[in-house]
Parts: sequence; C-alpha cells; structure tokens
Amino acid sequence: MGEDVVVRVAGLAMHFPITSGLFLQRKIGLVKAVDGVSFAVRKGETLGLVGESGCGKTTVGKCVLQLYRPTSGSVFFEGQDLCRMSEGQLRQVRPRMQLIFQDPGESLDPRFTAADIVGEPMWIQGKAQGPAYRERIAELLSIVGLAPYMADRYPHEFSGGQRQRLGVARALALEPTFIVCDEPVSALDVSIQAQIINLLDDLQQKYGIAYLFIAHDLSVVRHLSDRVAVMYLGKIAEIAGRDALYQEPLHPYTQALLSAVPIPDPAVEAKRVPIILKGEVPSPINPPSGCVFHPRCPKAFGPCPTVVPVLADVSQDHQVSCLLYPPSWPPSAPP
Ligand SMILES: Nc1ncnc2c1ncn2[C@@H]1O[C@H](COP(=O)(O)OP(=O)(O)OP(=O)(O)O)[C@@H](O)[C@H]1O
Ligand SMILES: [Mg+2]
Repeated sequence: MGEDVVVRVAGLAMHFPITSGLFLQRKIGLVKAVDGVSFAVRKGETLGLVGESGCGKTTVGKCVLQLYRPTSGSVFFEGQDLCRMSEGQLRQVRPRMQLIFQDPGESLDPRFTAADIVGEPMWIQGKAQGPAYRERIAELLSIVGLAPYMADRYPHEFSGGQRQRLGVARALALEPTFIVCDEPVSALDVSIQAQIINLLDDLQQKYGIAYLFIAHDLSVVRHLSDRVAVMYLGKIAEIAGRDALYQEPLHPYTQALLSAVPIPDPAVEAKRVPIILKGEVPSPINPPSGCVFHPRCPKAFGPCPTVVPVLADVSQDHQVSCLLYPPSWPPSAPP
C-alpha cells in the first residue's frame, strides 16, 4: 500500500439479508447494497462519492468505518485490514476515523448540552477529566466557529448550521485522520451549505484530515474534492481526478449526471444538453444482468446485457467500469 494512502477499500460488498416468517428467521433474498467496490483515499485529500438515492453511498461509508461488518472485501486503514480485526482491536483505531451525519438535528441527543455532545467521544475514551476537558471543549467550539459560552446550551437552541458545526466539533474531538462526511450539507440552506463546506475545507488544510465526502449530486462535491467516484447500484461506475471527471467524463452515467449540473460559464452553459435517462434505478434485490446500467444507458451495445464490466484504468488516476472502454483501452503504443 502506498505511503500516502490512509484508506484502501478492495472488493467491498455488503449484502443485507431479506427475512420473513416467524421471528424473521427465513432468508428469502439479499439486498446487494454494495457489490464489489474498490477505491483509495490519500492522506489529507477529499474523495467525493456521488450517486442517486439508494445506490449504496451511506452503506459504503458505514462499512469503511466498520459500523456495518461487510459481507466480503477488505478495508485497510493506516495499513491494517479493519475487516479482520476484533471489536477490541477496532476500539483502538476508531478514534482516528469519524463520521459526520446528514441531519444535524436528528444525530444530536436533545437531552445533552453542546459540551456533552462534543465531549462524548472523549468520555468514551476515558479522556474527560479535569479542567483540561472543559478547555478542550471550548477550543473545539471555537475551532468550528462557535462561541465557548454556548457550551451549556441544548441542541434546540442552535440553528441548523450551528448544529452541524457541533457535529463537526464532535468528530474532531479525538483528532481523526479520516472523516466520512455523509451528505453533511444536504439538509441545510444553500447559504449555510457554503459556510460548512468552507469550514471542512479549512479544517482539512489545518489538520491534514482526509474526507470521504458523500453527496447526491456532482455540483456539491466539485469545490471540495480532489478526486470523485461515481456510484450506481452498489458499484463504482467511474473514479477520477476532479478535473478529468468534470471535463472528460467517460462513463455514460457520469455524462448524464454532469449534463444535469449547471455550468457557471454562460457560453458553455448555453450549449449544455441535458441527457435524460430512461426509467428508474433498478432494485438492488434483483439487479440487471451484465452491466447494471445497461437498461438505462443511452450508449448500450451488444455485450452490455451479458458481460460484467470491470473497473479498469483508462489513464493515470482515471478508472471506468464500462464495456466501451475495455481494460486494454486506450490501446498502448507499440514498444
Ligand atoms: N440496514 C439495512 N438493511 C437492509 N437494507 C438496507 C440497509 N441499509 C441500506 N439498505 C438498502 O441498501 C441500499 C443502499 O442504501 P444506502 O442508504 O447505502 O443508499 P444511499 O446511496 O446512501 O442513499 P441516499 O442518497 O438516499 O442516502 C438501499 O436499497 C437500501 O434500502
Ligand atoms: Mg445515504
């Protein structure tokens, strides 16, 4: 594993059993929420993870953090495979990997004060003693742009944006090297979204934290991401450096998602033609054969319903899972 990589995920799968019958004991099928996902997040970078609702983004985030134990695959964090660790071993590494949730209202316990919420990870680790603890809380609140005197307020006394700042302070409490940000701004006003994104950006510059930043649409992750992965029905369709992905999207699904994003340049925007995909996202219980995107793909051809594409390099730091770009594409120059 490269020195600069903090998280490497290989062949990750999470299949949830569908049960029925008395005491839900009979397995009648599987939801293939995540099905063979591989990517790496480098130290101090942001990998954006984008895709439509239900494609498996949250499940990937939770599997990386081992909040779900994956069905198969590996998750290397700082060089160790978390999937092979016991709960006791995981407790040692958990402080260095954290989660920021989508809804800043629902993820905070209404009976806790801001100080309790931000300090809870420190209690759990037995680091919550004496005046140093109160000082650390005041410091964390000011790092995220809240006043230390707010420490004794309850969540309902904060605005949505301030509550998300509390969520960020809590995630920072144990000095993580990696944070999964699961749609941290989706529930906020557009004006507040930019503030939280700028805060996350500043924290990354200051502390060198790597983010897996989950979002629905490509416009949200553009500013923050160094690289972007596009997911569709439990798999990665394309992963590339930010500029390559926005300027030369190769997968027909990425092209369709991008065609829906307004472009700030009026000349380019005038020429943008939205690609409308037919149909709905199929169910992960019974995914289509071959390439899972083929029933909706405007460029589907002969082998797509039967051949499963693999995520293959098409150039340095650009991988696509599409039969239009077979693993040998582009043809290498003769020696
Ligand atoms: N605990 C669970 N048990 C069974 N199925 C689940 C569970 N969690 C998620 N799923 C299913 O797995 C699929 C992926 O869900 P997931 O929450 O990861 O999607 P998502 O991309 O985060 O969607 P959204 O953008 O709406 O948050 C969905 O079909 C969902 O119903
Ligand atoms: Mg989600």
